[in-house]
Amino acid sequence: MTQGRLISLEGGEGTGKSTQAKALANALEINGHKVWLTREPGGTPGAETIRELLLTGSEEKWNIRTEALLFAAARAEHCAKLIRPALSRGEWVITDRFIDSSRAYQSVNGQLDDAEIKDLHRVGSNNLMPDRTFILDLPEAVASRRAAARDRGDSDRIGGRDSAYHQAVMAKFRQFAVDEPDRVRLVDASQTAEAITEMLLQNLSDLMS
Ligand SMILES: Nc1ncnc2c1ncn2[C@@H]1O[C@H](COP(=O)(O)OP(=O)(O)OP(=O)(O)O)[C@@H](O)[C@H]1O
Ligand SMILES: [Mg+2]
Repeated sequence: MTQGRLISLEGGEGTGKSTQAKALANALEINGHKVWLTREPGGTPGAETIRELLLTGSEEKWNIRTEALLFAAARAEHCAKLIRPALSRGEWVITDRFIDSSRAYQSVNGQLDDAEIKDLHRVGSNNLMPDRTFILDLPEAVASRRAAARDRGDSDRIGGRDSAYHQAVMAKFRQFAVDEPDRVRLVDASQTAEAITEMLLQNLSDLMS
């Protein structure tokens, strides 16, 4: 049996995470792996219910710490019911967002600090970390144009925050790649979707056993 692997796709809104998660899952399946394509917040019925609570409603709906706890609670459910069982069967899991989104989105503008967010992940999910994380890096203006074209101007509770917030989030993501180069790889998301998928596969060759 091959070893199970957890791969996360991260980056701001409209950077191509969902496009790449899907393409990567297809490519890995063609290579003979059993692959689960999932997303955060969500991925299990309970976690999808929490997603709905998080992404709809007014900006003021949740206190920032409540919000961080809800993300951690959704992830706890996702890890316990989908990700850990799949990994223990030797399967691959591709997740569209994971812990690094919490670390980026919940830490900007003096919200929680990184240690607090990691503590929530330790309590909720026993610190399960991806084997590899790809940060899709795209200038915020280009990413928001892509997302706006896709959504025809609609955005969710978090996507609707201002451009300065999203730029600060992107800077956090870039820093993770500097701090943890073995796990976290920064990918130029301005290339064609096909070229990006190829780059991701190259950056997984050491994990294919
Ligand atoms: N490499 C690419 N070049 C040009 N357009 C792209 C590329 N990748 C994705 N797109 C398009 O950009 C839009 C955003 O892509 P996608 O939905 O995959 O982003 P996302 O990161 O999942 O966004 P969100 O955070 O809002 O879920 C889509 O319309 C998609 O078709
Ligand atoms: Mg998406």
